[in-house]
Amino acid sequence: NFLLSWQRTGFHFQPTKNWMNDPNGPLFYKGWYHFFYQYNPHGAVWNDIAWGHAVSKDLINWNHLPIAMVPDHWYDIGGVFTGSATILSDGSIVMIYTGATNNMSQVQNVAYPANLSDPLLINWVKSSANPVLVPPPGIGRQDFRDPSTAWLTPNGNWRFTIGSKINNTGISLVYETKDFVNYKLLNELLHQVPDTGIWECIDFYPVSLTDMNGLDTSVNGNGLSIKHVLKSSFEDVKVDYYALGSYDVNKNLWTPDDPKFDVGTGLRYDYGKFYASKTFYDQNKQRRILWSWTAESDSESTDIMKGWASLQAIPRVVLFDNKTKTNLLQWPVEEVEKLRSNEKEFNNVKLGAGSISTLDVGKAAQLDIITEFEIDKDALEGVMEADVGYNCATSDGASGRNALGPFGLLVLANDGRSEQTAVYFYIAKGTDGNLKIFFCTDLSRSSKATDVSKVIYGGTVPVLDNEKLSVRILVS
Ligand code: FRU
Repeated sequence: NFLLSWQRTGFHFQPTKNWMNDPNGPLFYKGWYHFFYQYNPHGAVWNDIAWGHAVSKDLINWNHLPIAMVPDHWYDIGGVFTGSATILSDGSIVMIYTGATNNMSQVQNVAYPANLSDPLLINWVKSSANPVLVPPPGIGRQDFRDPSTAWLTPNGNWRFTIGSKINNTGISLVYETKDFVNYKLLNELLHQVPDTGIWECIDFYPVSLTDMNGLDTSVNGNGLSIKHVLKSSFEDVKVDYYALGSYDVNKNLWTPDDPKFDVGTGLRYDYGKFYASKTFYDQNKQRRILWSWTAESDSESTDIMKGWASLQAIPRVVLFDNKTKTNLLQWPVEEVEKLRSNEKEFNNVKLGAGSISTLDVGKAAQLDIITEFEIDKDALEGVMEADVGYNCATSDGASGRNALGPFGLLVLANDGRSEQTAVYFYIAKGTDGNLKIFFCTDLSRSSKATDVSKVIYGGTVPVLDNEKLSVRILVS
């Protein structure tokens, strides 16, 4: 269905045309949210990578600005790759990014706003000291990329991390600098995990264990009331994994709370297309905001035909989940709620086995759906241990009916439901007798087009006793 796939999305950030990938250097400055992104100004496929730039007052409505940086020096002529912003103590901004050189080696470069009194930060100046870092001994020339936001250490130096690998062990190199001119590679790695391949787009930030607000990247609570999140993007599987742990700034060492849930083996922000994510601290509203690239489900030839590819998932606030204490919580930024105009409420909709209820929402191009499911206690008794082997991706999707589930919502359905996208729960009982709640999305009937990726994905979600199963879905 080409007409449908040509339609652009309503909630999520997109440039007016062409290819986009990773979020870069998000920040808040003089009343504006800035968003930069990997961008091909010349077409809808990955190539000629520059930094696109847009600004917003509310993270929802965006103004597209001129391209911030293009490949124009030997040290980034192969592409102005991913980087991050650091706001220094005097309020000035340093952007550190990876350049692909004239022979596609990866080096780190610095850029500054040309004019700090311009709230739109339109013009950027690349440092005359570039490249400021080249791959250190033992690191492959194409295994050195995506510097993180820097954090301030108690001795007044800044540190940031860069992803790499040694053999197939994913590693997090750390550099220290006073002035962003001279740098020292620390002997200690922040962290490493065998057999995970190169770490791309590492993100490293503190979360409060007690407060609902976010924390500036430099906050370090001596391990008492904070934890540090370490996130990496794994190139081979195109998946982001994060883990919670503690950071010892003296040893420059991050340790996962639970080695079973390490970076690359444990938790994900999202089971859909969600890659190269990056957070920033929003000093305007004291929250930490997560951006992430959502790659296309369309084929490359369709992308070329429609003239654009991919989007950025609507920004989310991230918080430590102080109920479970084992994972993060995420919620779309509250500003999206201002878009709600025409409210409809449906109560006491009873769902029997195999039944479908239609909810008449009238005509709408965008929906912000909040649903709460309550489960019949008798039905819970019937949940079988035989369901232990359930797996969203391989257990027959939305059509594989069993003891308790799947149940949920069918969105983007046409009349006759030859196209529909199922978002659903499935409840199984673990061998320990406890319930396991799966939350999945089934795209297998999402489009009649044949060149669209139609995976089924999802995982388990922690749901505590007496909590309802609730779902929020933004549809556009
Ligand atoms: C991740 C990535 C980064 C790199 C950029 C290039 O998607 O491969 O590692 O800097 O994209 O566009």
